[in-house]
Amino acid sequence: MSTILEKKGKNIGYKPVGQFEETRFEKIHNVIFEDSNEASIRVAEEIADLIRKKQAVGKTCVLGLATGSSPIRVYGELVRMHKEEGLSFSNVVTFNLDEYMPMDKANMQSYYYFMHEHLFNHVDIPAKNVNIPDGKISQEKVVEYCLGYEKKIKDYGGLDFQLLGIGRTGHIGFNEPGSHRNSGTRVITLDHITRVDAAPSFLGIDNVPRKAITMGIATVRSAKRIVLLGWGHNKAEIIKETVEGNITSQVPATYLQEHDNVTFVLDTGAGSELTRNKTPWLVGSCEWTDELTSKAIVWLCGKTGKSILSLTDKDYNDNGMSDLLSLVDSYDLNIKMFNKLQHTITGWPGGKPNADDTSRPERAEPARKRVIIFSPHPDDDVISMGGTFDRLVEQGHDVHVAYQTSGNIAVSDKEALKFAEISNTIVPSEEAQKIIDGILGKEENTFDSLEVRKLKGAIRRGESYAATRYLGLQDANVHFLDLPFYETGTIKKKSLSEADIAIMVDLINEIKPHQIYAAGDLADPHGTHKVCLDAVFEAMKRLKEEPFMKDCWLWLYRGAWHEWDINDIEMAVPMSPSQVLKKRYAIFCHQSQKDGVMFQGDDSREFWMRVEERNRGTAERYKALGLAHYAAMEAFVRYKFD
Ligand code: F6R
Repeated sequence: MSTILEKKGKNIGYKPVGQFEETRFEKIHNVIFEDSNEASIRVAEEIADLIRKKQAVGKTCVLGLATGSSPIRVYGELVRMHKEEGLSFSNVVTFNLDEYMPMDKANMQSYYYFMHEHLFNHVDIPAKNVNIPDGKISQEKVVEYCLGYEKKIKDYGGLDFQLLGIGRTGHIGFNEPGSHRNSGTRVITLDHITRVDAAPSFLGIDNVPRKAITMGIATVRSAKRIVLLGWGHNKAEIIKETVEGNITSQVPATYLQEHDNVTFVLDTGAGSELTRNKTPWLVGSCEWTDELTSKAIVWLCGKTGKSILSLTDKDYNDNGMSDLLSLVDSYDLNIKMFNKLQHTITGWPGGKPNADDTSRPERAEPARKRVIIFSPHPDDDVISMGGTFDRLVEQGHDVHVAYQTSGNIAVSDKEALKFAEISNTIVPSEEAQKIIDGILGKEENTFDSLEVRKLKGAIRRGESYAATRYLGLQDANVHFLDLPFYETGTIKKKSLSEADIAIMVDLINEIKPHQIYAAGDLADPHGTHKVCLDAVFEAMKRLKEEPFMKDCWLWLYRGAWHEWDINDIEMAVPMSPSQVLKKRYAIFCHQSQKDGVMFQGDDSREFWMRVEERNRGTAERYKALGLAHYAAMEAFVRYKFD
């Protein structure tokens, strides 16, 4: 097992597989870090350690490498170690797991391009030591080529270390469901889910290749050491199946259970479905914090099909929660939980004036609050909190909306062309004609010109004004921040810079809000929401000494992609049927995002449908727990800085 991951990892609750009660459901050694950055650095350290050890005895270090979003930070850290600590790759030979087919090396979507951009161009690895399957190999030669790839690995003495990601199908490399445990390097047909996941970077599923060359399961398993990386909630289900389920060709990663030196390195999101994290009371004795108690009671209601106030001692005892009853009886537990949830419900998201606010989610004073709603894209405000937005305006608060990014890449060429042609019909201009020609003559896999991006951004601004006016907000309270990190014209964005933070700081400082709403919805496919939330955190941190900040509360919303767990919700804002409709019409104002958006994710429904279902679902869950039954509810969690 890895010494570095065990000794240095700030891992939470790591115990060797099978030896302790806590990990008794687990068949693969795993380490969970709070943060994927920290985890990636630890993995990079393990790789560097191996390279150095091999160097010290004059040997070659043979690495199996992966692409995708998971290993990017590991490669970043290896590059840093090369530049700042003199880590040399002169004794390293690499074999990449896979490559799309057909795929040209020069194509920006190729794994060849990816590996050079993220690693090889920045370290001293000899070019002859780099092996990446050739995506242009002809049909006639491919079998021989694959056998040659296998042989080359063996001739180098086999893989010393294999880095892996995991697909939502359970693929490792591109070994999709159905792959055999003895499979070698070969051509494979990609699973639909894999193609859906790859669609954003190819600007649409139709551009995603259908085939790939991949190392086989046997090739991967022959590695002396394997580390698989898993980040985020999107991976939580497949990680659970892989770590706790039975070995099956339907989840090829489960074959890793047969390897004796494999570690899954996860963040809390990816590890969240493991039994020891999701329902620790089913695993062994727990430390019953308030949060864990709430989580367990909500789960128990789901399991028994009962409301909170109907749970009995027997329900607790039968479901691994008997030690909870040793402190209090079920009646007290039930009442306490019922009240806790009851107090999250409010029709006054900005606080109810002249009311006792001791058990309300928001303060009564000041009665008129200054509010900033940060919206990562120009529509998350209405999608995720349109009902609450409406109430805040109606209840007389000084509401500001700040769109953090222009959202220009999500407008289709078809939509942009429509606007350019209309504009050119009314006032013919060289600029409009240039945009029209640019769109009509655009070649596949090329970027939009600055003019086209500007037009696309303007379309989203127009739609945003339509929605904010519809909700009764004056234009002066609508702010388009166009944060620079987003303006690359591609899916891949820059990192946050001082320029981004300065824009955020200026706005918050100007408005001096009592409430900030921000997207805590971190499952969006391109990661923009996470970057936007980091920008909010950083700006608030920089302003923390300002007197107004001690009265500034941060509320996190979700909704576009997933919802908060009921036990985490701190404010639930109910909506009447007519408010649900009003929210729907506000979302409809974002015309360019309707009827099939460019970046759909794996949910084929339009945003308003997804969110209506989620808001209705939250209301249904409150009802099932025995609370009042509303048509829909928007949910928020209050973020408290240390
Ligand atoms: C990449 C590869 C794939 C990815 C997997 C996860 O070379 O073989 O198995 O590791 O699809 O992709 P990300 O990391 O983008 O979630």
